[in-house]
Amino acid sequence: MSEMKTFYLKTFGCQMNIYDSHRVYDLMQSNGYSFVDNPVDADVVILNTCYIREKASEKIFSELGRIKVAKKHSGKFDNFVVAVIGCVAKAEENNIFDRVPYVNIVLSPSKYHLLPEKISIAFNNPDEKIIDVGLNGVEKFDYLTDISLSSLSDYSAFISVQEGCDKFCTYCVVPYTRGREVSRPFEDVIEEAKKLDNGKTIEITLLGQNVSAYNGKDASGNQRCLADLIEEIAKFDFVKRIRYITSYPTQLGDRLIKLHSTEKKLQPLLFVPIQSGSDNVLKKMNRRYNQQQYKQMIDDVLSVFPDAKFSSDFIVGFPGETDDDFKQTLKIVDEVEFINSFSFKYSPRPHTPAQKMDNQVPEDVKTKRLIELQKLLSDKQLAFNKSLIGKVIPVLFESVAKKEKNSMFGKSEFMQTVIADYNENCIGKIVDVKILEADAFTLKGELIEKK
Ligand code: SAH
Ligand code: SF4
Ligand code: F3S
Repeated sequence: MSEMKTFYLKTFGCQMNIYDSHRVYDLMQSNGYSFVDNPVDADVVILNTCYIREKASEKIFSELGRIKVAKKHSGKFDNFVVAVIGCVAKAEENNIFDRVPYVNIVLSPSKYHLLPEKISIAFNNPDEKIIDVGLNGVEKFDYLTDISLSSLSDYSAFISVQEGCDKFCTYCVVPYTRGREVSRPFEDVIEEAKKLDNGKTIEITLLGQNVSAYNGKDASGNQRCLADLIEEIAKFDFVKRIRYITSYPTQLGDRLIKLHSTEKKLQPLLFVPIQSGSDNVLKKMNRRYNQQQYKQMIDDVLSVFPDAKFSSDFIVGFPGETDDDFKQTLKIVDEVEFINSFSFKYSPRPHTPAQKMDNQVPEDVKTKRLIELQKLLSDKQLAFNKSLIGKVIPVLFESVAKKEKNSMFGKSEFMQTVIADYNENCIGKIVDVKILEADAFTLKGELIEKK
């Protein structure tokens, strides 16, 4: 290459996509491309996309529209390559070329590692439509091995340990966009964790659509579980905090639950999405538990580890959800101490069974329910946050707060955002903070001097 080419990379969607984008970033850098933060100046534009709800998916097309206008406006709408990768790529395949003719490359979540090769082809043949939307589990990780290059990874890093999903919840596209559940080999994950010993990373989050079902094999051919992985990673001195997301609520397993009480590096927030509190709705969703079993799981965790807190996803307005069903969701939010939850209006998705179900809930009802649920969740969150006022909690400070000058922000063990006066010695470290103020979203506190 005579002159260094540049790339722009924008990521939509879940943590798994963020992780993948870090790997793509590293891959592009090691292939001689340098990152620019504006698509107009980029020789290669890469969008890593999400298909989970209609809004997420449509965002990609408006983004592509905006990039086209901006490039044209600056007279740079030629001699560049556009790649759409990720879940929209897998789901929409060739439709992407039909809707946005200037796209050159479409690659599924299993095929990111082919980017450099496909980009070269695209530069030589600008009119060629290049597509590979095969799914082959965890093979891509064998090619995405540059870890330390990425300036995107930070004090807190992700490792994908498991891809895909076999659960087929009736509303969800993930089993179609990411394929079946596959775990990475045990030692591969440990090797990757080792590479994060870079003087910076101190927190590792293990990722999978159904991470507690991790069942990768080790070198001797034995099947290992998520608890094994966590125990092994906890042995690294540089690792101070370990998290894992997302777990299927009834698939945590006794060993993992117990590990919470013995492994201090394992963080006390469990992300266990219930989706709905109504047994009728759960059944129609093909979630394989009822309200009673979910509450049992919560009790099981609390009985061995009373400090645990929970976080969940909720869907409101699933087809057939009645006012009474919805009340069951509100009821469970009253009963279980959820902190940091996410809630969404049900979005009908192509190819999923729920899309064809009778009794789709009208948009205005969904909106009303969402507002009501979010109000309750944020009241609960506020109450929990306020309960910390006066207490001293450990916080991992990550960066300087953008809005509030002279302050820095970090994360508590429970993923709360914590703000304190700026102190450069604290960035990238876990320090004790006394909480002084709290609202529903942030805590404010002061540093406690250590002797
Ligand atoms: N594997 C995880 C979730 C992955 S998707 C689990 O089973 O919990 C992330 C969240 O998106 C889901 O928990 C769900 O709340 C939401 N979601 C998925 N499909 C959706 C749809 N069609 N409409 C609205 N929300 C959806
Ligand atoms: Fe989707 Fe259900 Fe799988 Fe979660 S468990 S990714 S919601 S199909
Ligand atoms: Fe979205 Fe794909 Fe993740 S659909 S939520 S980016 S697995």
